[in-house]
Amino acid sequence: MKNVQYPFVLQRLATILAVVILSLTLIAAITGILLSFYYEPTAGGAYNSLNAIKAEIPNGWLVQRIHDIAGNGLIGVSLIEIVVMFLGEKFRPSWLTAWISGILLTLVAIALGWTAMLLDWTQLGYWRFQIELGTIETIPLIGSVLRQILTGGGAINTVTVAHLYTLHSYVLSIGALILAIIHLAGLLLQEKEEKQTLMESDAQLSLPE
Ligand code: HEM
Repeated sequence: MKNVQYPFVLQRLATILAVVILSLTLIAAITGILLSFYYEPTAGGAYNSLNAIKAEIPNGWLVQRIHDIAGNGLIGVSLIEIVVMFLGEKFRPSWLTAWISGILLTLVAIALGWTAMLLDWTQLGYWRFQIELGTIETIPLIGSVLRQILTGGGAINTVTVAHLYTLHSYVLSIGALILAIIHLAGLLLQEKEEKQTLMESDAQLSLPE
């Protein structure tokens, strides 16, 4: 009894978490678009526009807070999903699709948080980004090229904010949406296949000898 229930519970939990992941991604994308109506991706302008969003725009603080919670929540829930999927591993194509897309989605969610580091243009974000650029620069062969690409010339300024904003709001957020859909589709397919296998084995058991 216990052996039958354990994989079923894990599989259902993984599907429920995939629905939560897709919902969080959609909420973050929608609130991100709402933020972008008033957000100014420039050095200094970013800080002032976010302050205006929080203090002057009606419900702006709420939209900013929801974006923050959904974005950071996505990282947490996708990490839990990886553990749940690892415990209920199946190694069939639908499971592998969900597994690989789940891992990629977690990495993209972390990258979304990382690219947002400089988007508020605060002292904390600026110096954290400065330190992390130093680490990136130590990567052999590609380190300095990567710094040039990210910053747009080497120094942290308006071009850097624009680069990170483009990566955050277009490249990574669209990537996250696509991966969240693939992830849920893989898990739903797996549930369907599992049900089919169960029905086939039930039919074989009820055959007269
Ligand atoms: C899947 C979609 C998205 C996710 C998961 C996501 C995630 C995040 C995260 C984690 C933060 C940092 C929040 C914090 O800790 O303060 C953030 C900030 C931000 N995001 Fe997104 N984001 C998404 C889409 C977008 C889009 C589509 C836009 C704009 C078109 C956008 C614009 C911003 C801006 C302007 C900030 C800075 C706000 C602040 O620091 O308070 N995001 N995002």
